[in-house]
Amino acid sequence: MRPLILALALALAVPVIALPASATATGPGHGSEHGPQRVQDLRDLARKLRINIGSAVDVAVLRAEPDYKARLNREFDHLTAENAMKWESVEPERGVYTWQDADEVVRNARRNGQQVRGHTLVWHNQLPAWLTTGVENGTIGATELRQILRDHITTQVRRYKGQVRAWDVVNEAFDEDGTPRQTIWLTHLGPGYIADAFRWAHRADPHAKLYLNDYNVEWNVPKIEATLTLIKQLQAQRVPIDGMGFQGHLGIQYDYPGDWANVMRRFADLGLEIAVTELDVRMVLPVTPEKLATQADYYGRALSDCLSVRACREFTVWGFTDRHSWVPGWFDGEGSACLLDENLAAKPAYDKLLTTRRVSGR
Ligand code: XIL
Repeated sequence: MRPLILALALALAVPVIALPASATATGPGHGSEHGPQRVQDLRDLARKLRINIGSAVDVAVLRAEPDYKARLNREFDHLTAENAMKWESVEPERGVYTWQDADEVVRNARRNGQQVRGHTLVWHNQLPAWLTTGVENGTIGATELRQILRDHITTQVRRYKGQVRAWDVVNEAFDEDGTPRQTIWLTHLGPGYIADAFRWAHRADPHAKLYLNDYNVEWNVPKIEATLTLIKQLQAQRVPIDGMGFQGHLGIQYDYPGDWANVMRRFADLGLEIAVTELDVRMVLPVTPEKLATQADYYGRALSDCLSVRACREFTVWGFTDRHSWVPGWFDGEGSACLLDENLAAKPAYDKLLTTRRVSGR
């Protein structure tokens, strides 16, 4: 290798150094007579790593459980509404908007110095019944459907203009085999619905970062290739797309997606911002110390992978406590997917994240 290229290669190889929290100094002000500074919590970690660390929020719980709320606001500097910004939540009846829960997330974020990910504008799930039945029985035709989607995106993005850092504009656009998912959007509007959605969102808030978001893109090759191809097509058409979100719903019964950092890099190489948007690491119950150790390893590797790619700037978990997680309700016999247990006590995964140290060059 020629020296210049070698130097470049060395400069770009950014190692992640993981040390015990107590064994290392962290940033300016360290090394006082009290010894090296400990990382206090995830917000402290986020500052030191120069990344945002977020969580999904369940608004009903935010209102009902003060310990949940206090912990959320202590640990996280980025929020995603778990359900409150989905279509069925914001427009359960046609033309009747219910913004209370979505507003609550944005208000909480403003009061606590947190940024917000808007989730999600175009998806095939959690659509209101008036919309799906209208399309099914033919009372809503293609032209009207396109107008409805345009109004929905414009209304919602405008409402939170300047308050939502990033939007998941289109969620889960591909099937596992890399073919476009056959949703009401694709079958009635054609593949152009994706470009339209990004353009409408951009018009409504030109400063918000606009993302594609999907699951299994951490490792599923057909999905990775299809998503990359789509993004290149969108860019060739000058569609305003800014980011790729990796949901990151992992399980320890499967191998850790060991190529994830490289995959992130391929998206980053297209000029995109990267975010881990919905990380959780579930396990087949019962919980054992060994499983918790494996889970900690997965959480730690996910954060290290994100840190190793300069464009990866947000690391969001899909709920932070096993007291409130979607996993038991959706995956039979599985659970314990979060960083804290039901009593908000730290699991090994939480401690593991706190030991992660900054990557040089970040
Ligand atoms: C899930 C929520 O966590 C559940 O409360 C809800 O019942 C179903 O949706 N991918 C996504 C999220 O993009 O919106 C999903 O959230 C989890 C999978």
